[in-house]
Amino acid sequence: MEIVLSGIRPTGQLHLGNYYGALRNFVRIQDKYECYYFIADLHSLTTHPHPDDFHANVKNILAEYLAAGLDPEKSALYIQSDVPEVSELYVLLNMLAYKGELERTAAFKDKVRHNPENVNAGLLTYPVLMASDILIQRANWVPVGKDQDQHLEMSRVFAKRFNNFYGVEVFPEPHAMDFGGGSLKVPGLDGNGKMGKSEGNGIYLADDEKTITKKVMRAVTDSGPTVPNSPKPVVIENLFTLLKLVSTPDTVEFFDEKWNDCSIRYGDLKKQLAADICKVTLPIRERIIEISQDNDYLAKVVKSGCERARANASKTLEAARKAVGFRKF
Ligand code: ADP
Ligand code: TRP
Repeated sequence: MEIVLSGIRPTGQLHLGNYYGALRNFVRIQDKYECYYFIADLHSLTTHPHPDDFHANVKNILAEYLAAGLDPEKSALYIQSDVPEVSELYVLLNMLAYKGELERTAAFKDKVRHNPENVNAGLLTYPVLMASDILIQRANWVPVGKDQDQHLEMSRVFAKRFNNFYGVEVFPEPHAMDFGGGSLKVPGLDGNGKMGKSEGNGIYLADDEKTITKKVMRAVTDSGPTVPNSPKPVVIENLFTLLKLVSTPDTVEFFDEKWNDCSIRYGDLKKQLAADICKVTLPIRERIIEISQDNDYLAKVVKSGCERARANASKTLEAARKAVGFRKF
């Protein structure tokens, strides 16, 4: 069976971008692949989270993973730092990763621009750690959003480089898992491109109805169409993109027609959008609250996930160590 792997950093609550760009896809493919889903807590250290918040953030994402439908019976759900094989492979791969290529990574350049006071080596080698996550499980497919395409490309580069350098076939090349229509980008409703934590424009899975409605009603719009069948400006297209994700095709068509004959009322569109977002997220929110309270269950889930992840990872690490030349005395 082919292997799927993905991870999300525990840097806050999950929003609709994470859900539609990543998590929902994780859930949908659980029956068809051997799946490894983890919480990338080591990666989150690159931005120096406070130790007091660290565990709560990890626990939070774990509850959100489970609430959204990840099934620990089907998939291995684990915490990255519980699998030391990942860190050992990271050391090995670092010897084959070059400063120049790491400095050219778009995400790195972005972080340097935004946080010039914390350009640590972990940040520079972020793609190497991500490659280790993927390669240690010999994953074939990695479901992630479009913003991760470059990191994934680097994982392929490191896999090939290791294999060529040592003349082995230890790592298969991982590929982005395409769910049709290319990688999806969930927009924010503030006119600022994608929905994201750092963008501060998230609609969160754990938001209550009132909060969601308030956020949607505040969405940026324009003064409305005046010419029939005109193209939609970006902020309006964004509303429709979200509507397509959460509503029925009939509803989308209804508002599309209203746009085309210039009779659209943005207030109505937003009310419908808020209601349909709630329909998706409120049941998840309820489960998040319920699961978060069950510490015994959460402990059981990560223990068995870690065992499964380590069992597979240790085989890969053994092959990598052998390729590098480590031998027993
Ligand atoms: P954030 O951008 O809020 O910091 P992360 O970078 O932690 O979110 O993303 C976790 C996962 O969710 C990644 O696979 C990423 O590609 C996906 N993702 C995040 N935001 C979006 C979005 N707006 N549209 C599509 N996918 C997204
Ligand atoms: N870099 C990813 C993100 O920011 C998180 C991540 C870490 C990941 N390791 C991974 C995703 C391995 C897929 C596979 O979203």
